[in-house]
Amino acid sequence: MINITKQELQVLIEYIYEICGVHLDSSKEYLVKTRLDGLVTKNGCASYSEFYYRARSDRTGKLNGDMINAITTPETLFFRDKHPFEIMRTKLVNEIIQKKKSKTGLPGQLRIWSAASSTGQEIYSLAMILRETISNIDKYRISLMATDISDVVLDLARAGRYNKFEISRGLTPQLLNKYFIEKDQYWQLKDEILKMVKFQKLNLMKPFVGLGKFDIVFCRNVAIYFTLDDRKNLFDRIADTIVPEGYLFIGSSEFLTGISDRFKAVRHGKTIYYQKVK
Ligand SMILES: C[S@@+](CC[C@H](N)C(=O)[O-])C[C@H]1O[C@@H](n2cnc3c(N)ncnc32)[C@H](O)[C@@H]1O
Repeated sequence: MINITKQELQVLIEYIYEICGVHLDSSKEYLVKTRLDGLVTKNGCASYSEFYYRARSDRTGKLNGDMINAITTPETLFFRDKHPFEIMRTKLVNEIIQKKKSKTGLPGQLRIWSAASSTGQEIYSLAMILRETISNIDKYRISLMATDISDVVLDLARAGRYNKFEISRGLTPQLLNKYFIEKDQYWQLKDEILKMVKFQKLNLMKPFVGLGKFDIVFCRNVAIYFTLDDRKNLFDRIADTIVPEGYLFIGSSEFLTGISDRFKAVRHGKTIYYQKVK
């Protein structure tokens, strides 16, 4: 165990907030230590001060990425919480496609953003849903964007290569057989899915530049780490990126009450999702 002084803890907490907006307070000493002790040791640092200075001066951003991963847990899985993907499959995809078709007479564009995508399971689940739901999908201009602050998870996401544990979580055998190729104990997503998604590094705490507008945004299980003010600001800026009457999905334990009045809650079975109203 590496000792951490009160001052080191404070400096580290402020640094974590600075690099990714994750808010911790001094009561989180145990969490900081259990999550970061391993990284401090792995990087050969004798103290938390040395680790802090090393992270601050690491121009590759690798240490920051590792810290963010350790603090936030990049936990994710295919079709997480199931219901949002069921709503997409049975309702929203067709609804949006038809709405755009009736306006222009042409197969339209559909843009979806997975904000804080982690290792890609969320956006690839959406890509599979779209392939399963839209016939003649190649006629449509589908754009799937996935962003995360961490290069570590983005590299893994781009590779689209998952181990036995990862493919055992959330995928049906039918989707696994259809969209993955097994190779050396790993399962590689096929090009038809990989090529649908663009990954980009993005810190949700910073202004969104050049993202364009989305029909649907998934921003799940990341805002829980932010302060109330930062959450308000985040969902306000996310609302700006969504087309009028477009949709937002947040995590199953998250809520927008008292955070944003720019969305109305829509209840569908066991799930609540949000529609932009202003
Ligand atoms: C628990 S995962 C959520 C993954 C996925 N959305 C889901 O619900 O399954 C949280 C992710 O948020 C990312 N993250 C943390 N702070 C961030 C920030 N300020 N901007 C963008 N991504 C951030 C982490 O790197 C991590 O991959």
